[in-house]
Amino acid sequence: MKTIIITGGAGFIGSHVVRLFVEKYPEYKIINVDKLTYAGNLANLKDIEDRPNYEFVKADICDFDKMYELMQTRKADGIIHLAAESHVDRSIKDPFTFAQTNVLGTLSLLQAAKLYWESLPEGYEGKRFYHISTDEVYGALELTKPEGDKDGRGPYGDEFFVETTKYTPHSPYSASKASSDHFVRAFHDTYGMPTIVTNCSNNYGPYQFPEKLIPLFINNIRHRKPLPVYGKGENVRDWLYVVDHARAIDTIFHKGRIADTYNIGGFNEWKNIDIVRTLIRVTDRLLGREEGADMDLITYVTDRAGHDLRYAIDSTKLKRELGWEPSLQFEEGIEKTVRWYLDNQDWLDNVTSGDYQQYYEKMYANR
Ligand code: NAD
Ligand code: DAU
Repeated sequence: MKTIIITGGAGFIGSHVVRLFVEKYPEYKIINVDKLTYAGNLANLKDIEDRPNYEFVKADICDFDKMYELMQTRKADGIIHLAAESHVDRSIKDPFTFAQTNVLGTLSLLQAAKLYWESLPEGYEGKRFYHISTDEVYGALELTKPEGDKDGRGPYGDEFFVETTKYTPHSPYSASKASSDHFVRAFHDTYGMPTIVTNCSNNYGPYQFPEKLIPLFINNIRHRKPLPVYGKGENVRDWLYVVDHARAIDTIFHKGRIADTYNIGGFNEWKNIDIVRTLIRVTDRLLGREEGADMDLITYVTDRAGHDLRYAIDSTKLKRELGWEPSLQFEEGIEKTVRWYLDNQDWLDNVTSGDYQQYYEKMYANR
C-alpha cells in the first residue's frame, strides 16, 4: 500500500488531484494536508470525504514539527506538493506571506521528508517528492504577432517556454515559486532526494477561487457587475482545463523521471480580452440572455504592476516521453466551466462570504 501526502488538497487544483487519486487508486492512502486559508475549502471534496482511503489533516506546511510527525505517523511514500499562496495580485500587496508559505513552507516539507526517508532502512528507494510549479517562473514572452496568427503553432509569437528556459520571475508570487523550485532541485542534487518539478500554464475549471479571472468574471456577468480588464486586455495566457492538469500530475507522479522537469500546457493561447468576450457570450447564452448583451460590462482599469505580457508553454516533452495530451478542447472546457459556476451559485456565495471557513474551522477545531 502506498501512502501519499497531497498538500493544498482543499484548493482549486489540489482538490481535483485528490479526487482523481482517491477514486483511481483505492489501494493508496491519500492524506490531504491543508491549512484551509481563504483559498482552501473542504466543500470542494464533499463527494469523496467519506472514502476509506482518504484522510484530511488541517495543518500548516510551515510547521516543520507537524510535517515531520505526519511523515512518520502516516509513513509517507510520496508527496505531491501543491500548497501555496497562488494569486499574483495578493503577492503584490503582501509579498511576505508568499515567501513564508511558498519558500519556507516548501523547505519545511523537504526537510521533514528528508529526515523521515533517511531514517528508513530502504532510504529514498521507492519514494518521491513531486513539486507543482508554474510557467510564471520563466518570466514573460514577447507578443510578436499582436493580431494573432490562427494558423501558426504559437498564434501570438513563435517563442515558447521550454524546460530549459532561464528563470526570470517578475512578480513576488513567481519569485517565491522560482525559489521553491530551486530548493526542490537542490535537495536532489545535495542529498539525492528523488524529486520531480512540473511547470504548468493557467488552469481553469470548477472550484477555482473567484478572485481569478475566469470565475470572477462569470460571477460578475451573472450579476451584471463591471468586468475589470487590466490595461488593454492584450496580455496572453495559455489555458488548460484543470482535470487535464490533474491527469498530467498522475502520469508524471507514476512515470516521470527522477530529478527531471516537465512543462504542462495545452497549446491554447488567448488574449485576455478575447477570453472575456467569450465568457460574456457563453454566460449570456446559458442564462437565456441575448448573446453578447453584456459586452458593456467590460471596464478597462489600471494595469497590474509588472504584468507579464505573454505566457506560452511547450509541453512537447511530456507528450513525447510520457504520452500525456489534454483531453478537452477549449470550447468544450469553457462551456462546462461556465455551466458549473452558474449551477453552483451556493458554492460561490459561500466562498465569498467566508461562512464556509467558520463552519469548517469549528468542525475541525478538535482534531
Ligand atoms: P489555491 O490558492 O486554489 O489553493 C492553495 C491551497 O493551499 C489552499 O487549499 C490553501 O488552503 C492551501 N495552503 C495555502 N497555504 C498553506 C499552508 N501554509 N499550509 C498548508 N496549506 C496551505 O491554488 P491553486 O490555483 O490550486 O494552485 C495550486 C498549486 O499549483 C500552487 O502551488 C500553484 O503555484 C500551482 N499552479 C497553479 C496554477 C493555476 O493556474 N491556478 C497554474 C500552475 C501552477
Ligand atoms: O500561469 C500560471 C498562473 O496562472 C498560476 O501560477 C497562478 O497561480 C494563477 O493565479 C494564474 O496567474 P494569472 O495572474 O495569470 O491569473 P489571473 O486569473 O489572476 O489573471 C489572468 C489574466 O487576467 C492576467 O493577465 C491578469 C488578467 N486579469 C485578472 C483579474 C483577476 C484581469 O484583467 N482582471 C482581473 O480582474
